[in-house]
Amino acid sequence: MTTTTTDTPAATTAETVLDARGVTMRFGGLTAVKNVDLTVRSGEIVGLIGPNGAGKTTFFNCLTGLYIPTEGEVRYKDKVLPPKSYKVTDAGVARTFQNIRLFNNMTVLENVLVGRHTRTKVGLWAALLRLPSFGREEAASREKAMELLEFIGLAHKAEHLARNLPYGEQRKLEIARALASDPGLILLDEPTAGMNPQETRATEELIFAIRDQGIAVLVIEHDMRFIFNLCDRVACLVQGEKLIEGTAAEVQGDERVIAAYLGEPFEGAPGAEEVAEVEAAEAHSEAAHDEAAADAEATDSTTSSTDGEDR
Ligand SMILES: Nc1ncnc2c1ncn2[C@@H]1O[C@H](COP(=O)(O)OP(=O)(O)O)[C@@H](O)[C@H]1O
Ligand SMILES: [Mg+2]
Repeated sequence: MTTTTTDTPAATTAETVLDARGVTMRFGGLTAVKNVDLTVRSGEIVGLIGPNGAGKTTFFNCLTGLYIPTEGEVRYKDKVLPPKSYKVTDAGVARTFQNIRLFNNMTVLENVLVGRHTRTKVGLWAALLRLPSFGREEAASREKAMELLEFIGLAHKAEHLARNLPYGEQRKLEIARALASDPGLILLDEPTAGMNPQETRATEELIFAIRDQGIAVLVIEHDMRFIFNLCDRVACLVQGEKLIEGTAAEVQGDERVIAAYLGEPFEGAPGAEEVAEVEAAEAHSEAAHDEAAADAEATDSTTSSTDGEDR
């Protein structure tokens, strides 16, 4: 009854955690990200949407030191981020990957410990090989890692090998690993890709819980319902450029966003295949209907099973 989860979005006076200005990323002749500005404030969940190939992951890579932007600057809490991913993690920005990157042959707990090692003085290998040079610090790290596993609901699988987890749990484990570095900002690249509706719902709750712990969130997703439910603010990238940014309601109703997703399907656009299929089915059914109209009224069975799920 006394929770504050439904608090309004962070006030505009809240501290700016991430400040990306004029970020451009070119690969040879291709400009994957074009002059993008984006801020994330403390306490916010910001969404980044856009069709496949829009430049979302490339933008993340520019934010996290994997790519050095061709132009532009990225600041975290007023400091320019160093162009090395481990230094970005050190600075307080953690991320997950669109293509899961776990150590498959390590246990669930060990994977979280790997994420933790930037915050401990003891070396990673010493920790994993359990060298005698540490004891207390290792115990503290394990305790913290177990807390995180409890937080994401995987404590009971701490000793399982990562590769034996179902897909949805691997995605959660990636989040736990990212959280292990004690970030002030977490970037999630398609955290619900491949998840069923229940898992997606649970991930939503998890992201709210992360925000409630004081960690700002920037999340890329294709699932519009998920994004509009979750985010205080949403920015839409199309062909590398920021098309619009606003509240969920503003972005959701924007015709250009709808057009980018549905109106002008281009190669690889999410839903383009379904749109084409539906259109073909409709055209077919109209033709069939015209023919049938000459006879007695035909039973209409042409509109079923066209709304498959977006994967
Ligand atoms: N390392 C790279 N070298 C060349 N082109 C790349 C590289 N990474 C991404 N791209 C291109 O940049 C564009 C944006 O890709 P990406 O950021 O993965 O899009 P999204 O995540 O929005 O689906 C695509 O055309 C992709 O082929
Ligand atoms: Mg991507």
